[in-house]
Amino acid sequence: MTVRSSSQGILSDENAEKRQEIIELLTKAYWMEIETVMSYIANSINPDGVRAQEIIESLQRDIQEELGHAQMFATRIKELYGVVPGSLHFTAEQSYLQPPQHQTDIVHVIRGVIEAETGAIEHYNRIIELTDGIDWVTQDMTITILHDEEGHRRLFEGYLREYQVEGLA
Ligand SMILES: [Fe+2]
Ligand SMILES: [Fe+2]
Repeated sequence: MTVRSSSQGILSDENAEKRQEIIELLTKAYWMEIETVMSYIANSINPDGVRAQEIIESLQRDIQEELGHAQMFATRIKELYGVVPGSLHFTAEQSYLQPPQHQTDIVHVIRGVIEAETGAIEHYNRIIELTDGIDWVTQDMTITILHDEEGHRRLFEGYLREYQVEGLA
């Protein structure tokens, strides 16, 4: 007996091509989250100095959230009949979140985090637009994740503001 495929929505046969397009965006989002986890681990451990503590604790919290995002994107890839890629397909892109020359350079870390969050916000807005009226579940999930990223960016913009006020950034 053959299993009936969904006659409606993103899981229907006629939406196979659209599904593929969404899977590609989700895969990029998955890699972005994975790389962010790597970068945030390094940047939550490397910084030195009295002012580094707040950034360290903040990034430690974010690591768990970003990991959760990666798992959500991966799960959605599977639900859309895709396959979560293996590590050999990973290509690093976060040049701006490499360790600074001096580990007391907190501004470098703050700017890097803002850059990473901005990239995520831009990509997730793209997913939300592309899935509109076509894949409500991916859209809903991505809106929730976008909310987290906007919160992360706002927090680090606040950190940067403090340094700017003091003429240090
Ligand atoms: Fe994230
Ligand atoms: Fe984030």
